[in-house]
Amino acid sequence: MRNLMVVNHPLIQHKLSILRNKDTGPKEFRELTREITLLLTYEATRHLPTYETKIETPLCATTGKMIEDKKVTVVPILRAGLGMVEGVLSLMPNASVGFVGLYRDPQTIRPVEYYCKLPKLNDNEIFVLDPMLATGFSSAVAIDMVKKAGGKRISLMCLIAAPEGVKEIVNTHPDVRIFTASLDERLNDHAYILPGLGDAGDRLYRTK
Ligand code: URA
Repeated sequence: MRNLMVVNHPLIQHKLSILRNKDTGPKEFRELTREITLLLTYEATRHLPTYETKIETPLCATTGKMIEDKKVTVVPILRAGLGMVEGVLSLMPNASVGFVGLYRDPQTIRPVEYYCKLPKLNDNEIFVLDPMLATGFSSAVAIDMVKKAGGKRISLMCLIAAPEGVKEIVNTHPDVRIFTASLDERLNDHAYILPGLGDAGDRLYRTK
């Protein structure tokens, strides 16, 4: 699939294996989530434009290249997406952060918006953060919300994706690039990813 990038670098595979392990506790889970996101960010920002800047090294004058991280916005989907924010900000500390909150309607099983706080998006590069791309419904709605607020250049970053979720995003948002550390096998009857890692929010915040 043209818009799907599975970033399966050995470091990412190594860290993801520890993350998946049911015995990995919340402290390590949070650290690994941050580290894997940082490594994904390296790949997901490859297309960012650079501008030239004059530098004086201790020896002479030269020209370097820089990115404008003020023109980057990250949008975690509450709450599990919060675990990925620091991974992006550690590489691009001037990025702005917006928040999207969605809950699942028990009748329709569709995501419903309960919170949306987005900064000015202008022509920013936007990275929507959703660690588990399961059905893809939440990410698709979050991307709808970002587009409604004026967002144009959008990438979706996740730790693990299911084929069902990827299909949903490709169908609803063919302009959005998806970066994931793994494309897993499938969803189970409760829309959990197999083999996956369980509930990312519960494991980040030890709520189960
Ligand atoms: N959300 C999770 O946290 N885990 C899954 O497997 C699916 C959705």
